Amino acid sequence: KLEKIWLGLGMGSLVLFLGIIFVSALHNGHEPIASGREFIAPELIDKDEVFSKPGLHKVEGKDWDYELVFVVSAFNYNPGKVEIPKGSKVKIIATSRDVVHGFEIAKTNVNMMVEPGHISTFVKTFNKKGEYLLLCNEYCGIGHADMKSNIKVV
Ligand code: CUA
Repeated sequence: KLEKIWLGLGMGSLVLFLGIIFVSALHNGHEPIASGREFIAPELIDKDEVFSKPGLHKVEGKDWDYELVFVVSAFNYNPGKVEIPKGSKVKIIATSRDVVHGFEIAKTNVNMMVEPGHISTFVKTFNKKGEYLLLCNEYCGIGHADMKSNIKVV
């Protein structure tokens, strides 16, 4: 008899668990920005609601204040220049149009790979004013050494 109760509890929590996953998946599906997505085909970048608008966007009701969208390609970052208000918590969201590129913000812990077909994210709070160099640290071709962008915390 005790086994039946335990089995019932087990099944009940499984159903609850699946329900939570389902509801959060639905919720993510309605978010305007790519919080829940992992993949984007390079040919869809320009039609995509997120990646067709590279740059810094203020968001409400999330664990971060801004989303910073980057489209990366040989040999540049779009946007090529960003200003971030000091103290902001920023979710960086990036993808590549062509090959694998690096995404390192010098003097910070931001360091990730940006791959075609894939969405890379990194959440970072920018607490120190100054200019930061965003650079590519994966060899990606002849223009690799000049592949840079500028992030300014103001
Ligand atoms: Cu892009 Cu190296």
